[in-house]
Amino acid sequence: MNSAEQHYEQLLARVYAWSVASAGDPTERAERWLREHGLLDAERYLDLGAGFGAHVLPLLAAGKQVTAVDFNAELLAQLAAAASGAPRLSLARADLVDYLEASGESRWDVILCLGDTLTHLDSTDRVERLLASAVRHLKPEGRLAIGYRDSSEFQAEGLARFVPVASDHTRSMHCLLEPIDATYLRVTDIVTDVTAEGPRTRLSDYRKLRIACAALIGWAGHTGLQLLSQQVDRGMTSLVFRRLRAT
Ligand SMILES: C[S@@+](CC[C@H](N)C(=O)[O-])C[C@H]1O[C@@H](n2cnc3c(N)ncnc32)[C@H](O)[C@@H]1O
Repeated sequence: MNSAEQHYEQLLARVYAWSVASAGDPTERAERWLREHGLLDAERYLDLGAGFGAHVLPLLAAGKQVTAVDFNAELLAQLAAAASGAPRLSLARADLVDYLEASGESRWDVILCLGDTLTHLDSTDRVERLLASAVRHLKPEGRLAIGYRDSSEFQAEGLARFVPVASDHTRSMHCLLEPIDATYLRVTDIVTDVTAEGPRTRLSDYRKLRIACAALIGWAGHTGLQLLSQQVDRGMTSLVFRRLRAT
């Protein structure tokens, strides 16, 4: 099985923007999500697992200062091209937990970890390290927003394990989801490109974390984060926390 980093390098990075565009303009959806969660009122933002910049681009358009972290060079290059040299953008190619832990005295108003990035971490220990480190790097009253899929109760048999992701005249993509144990889900992406020589299918699998929302809220509480809002929309859980002043 690939690591999450290898999976993006070998398969997903090249098709990721295409796969999410089939549900509508991703930057418009991201801008709406940020507005609905009251997150457009700050100045300094850190986006952990920024990808091609679905959330970064509307933040830049709103005049915000943004640091975007991602371990995938191809997605960061797409973001850099779309932002076309925006002076208020800093890009970092790094593991997001390592980046936060090495961030010295830096402080942000809002830290984002959206689009199911959290479940790509390789253990719940790293999730707890991310939360603890995020608290240290938030200004007092600063907010941490997490958007992820809670697959802790996921079960599927037979054909129900195959999820259609996106399809057009050039390509189709499915995802095979298989619980490994209580902690991990095996995700196999199946991408078929229509080429001049005929269809060409590529597969790659990696592990995602199964994180129960109640457990995540509990870990966050222990680090000094207060839950401000919790919402589930089409299988995606959105949590916004605030750093307590005393922490
Ligand atoms: C599902 S995408 C979400 C992208 C974006 N946040 C969004 O909402 O569209 C996950 C992103 O996180 C990045 N990623 C996953 N694990 C990471 C890690 N440990 N360190 C840095 N980037 C990571 C991937 O390269 C990918 O760009």
